[in-house]
Amino acid sequence: MKIYCEKDYEAMSRRAAGILGAQVILKPDSVLGLATGSSPVGTYQELIRRYEAGELDFSKVTSVNLDEYKGLSGENDQSYRYFMNIHFFDHVNIDKSRTFVPDGLAKDSQKACTEYNAIIRREGPVDLQLLGLGNNGHIGFNEPAPIFEKETHCVDLAASTIEANKRFFEKEEDVPRQAYTMGIGNIMQAKKILIIVSGEGKADIVAQAFCGPVTPEVPASILQFHSDVTLVGDEAALSKLMERLEQ
Ligand code: F6R
Repeated sequence: MKIYCEKDYEAMSRRAAGILGAQVILKPDSVLGLATGSSPVGTYQELIRRYEAGELDFSKVTSVNLDEYKGLSGENDQSYRYFMNIHFFDHVNIDKSRTFVPDGLAKDSQKACTEYNAIIRREGPVDLQLLGLGNNGHIGFNEPAPIFEKETHCVDLAASTIEANKRFFEKEEDVPRQAYTMGIGNIMQAKKILIIVSGEGKADIVAQAFCGPVTPEVPASILQFHSDVTLVGDEAALSKLMERLEQ
């Protein structure tokens, strides 16, 4: 695993954008696996800046997002489709018809998952998967569980995830209780993984995920078995991991 320990959120975002940007320069028709949440906002801003400066071209890129809240339409300002549009897609020359996010409004959950798996298979393999890390060790919405789920599935969000994500909603009751997420198997099939973490609040879970036992109770720990993982974090988030690596 490659680790980049950056000074702060801005430096983390620049480093991550550099890695994603290099991917697109080297392979203009890359398939990017994308994430939402607070962690990648700065990365997307930096990618937009580089696009506007003429350094990047997204016209041949395909993207597949990790997850979507069940029950929210793409027009809902809390949906992950909406997030991707306003934070990234609307500002670069990506072909929106080549950007994929699970359908939050699907009537039949099982069918929605099967269809999303088919999209990942058809468009994939993902060249570079961007991930954030949940406070409880989740990646995508793969919550701590007795087993690693392989493919896209509908998941009950953990109480800690609802608590963590309520900051984006008016009130906690508004946070959807279920979501569609790529499975751990889908994520592990990406050729390369880029995981970004910031803030002191993530320091313990980062150390657990990358130095602790590989267990579905800490879903991100499975990344220890992936052969091409880059972890980019700020000093605060990486502090405990660095301590353990130096021991
Ligand atoms: C988002 C996602 C989640 C987040 C994680 C961290 O698409 O899949 O796993 O990456 O919850 O969220 P932030 O970045 O808001 O701390």
